[in-house]
Amino acid sequence: MNHQLHNHSHSHLNKRIAVLASGKGSNLEVILQAMQQGSCDAQVSLVICNKADANALQIARAYQVPQVVYLNPKDYADRAAYDQACAALIQQEDCAWVVLAGYMRILSSTFIQTFPQQIINIHPSLLPSFVGAHAVADALAYGVQITGCTVHLVTEDLDSGPILAQTAVPVLSTDDHDTLHQRIQNAEYQLYVQVIQRLVSTPFHVQEKHVIWD
Ligand code: GAR
Repeated sequence: MNHQLHNHSHSHLNKRIAVLASGKGSNLEVILQAMQQGSCDAQVSLVICNKADANALQIARAYQVPQVVYLNPKDYADRAAYDQACAALIQQEDCAWVVLAGYMRILSSTFIQTFPQQIINIHPSLLPSFVGAHAVADALAYGVQITGCTVHLVTEDLDSGPILAQTAVPVLSTDDHDTLHQRIQNAEYQLYVQVIQRLVSTPFHVQEKHVIWD
């Protein structure tokens, strides 16, 4: 398998995306709004949540996403089985892209290999700083004066795939976790819609760590 030269000329006309979310779902909502307003011509065909009480489920239903599914991890023997169920839904819906929007679960290697260079994630820091589930708290604790958000391709190395786009956000001396996260999220909303629009309209290839738009 040649990941380096894999390109998406075959799939860039397919604008169907699956969104995986675990929580608030505000990124999902901004994507759905952009679609509705015509500023993004991706089609969210499927939303999968791993939490029954995720607000993302309500948002997906409110926007009438065709397939909105809660999959309970406890109903599956292990991570591989859970991810296999997710992958089957994504393939059934013929989605070309998998968009992680606050999806707080590690993906199995098999899942990632099933969708090579088709999974993107948004992370609330300037990667490679502050990988993991507590990026905002970690940036505050470290005392950095600039943080931000990163959209990247998902590879088997956690939060370390090729970077698609980043926005810098200043840390203010008055910030607490919530004020900083909110300012980062405002940056996320703009960045994620832009990247998704580009993804569904422009083929790219990957060379080493670089994403090159064709
Ligand atoms: C976002 O800030 C996203 O960057 C972060 O979770 C939040 C989800 O918000 N993701 C991670 O920390 C991934 N490790 P949302 O549910 O309102 O879109």
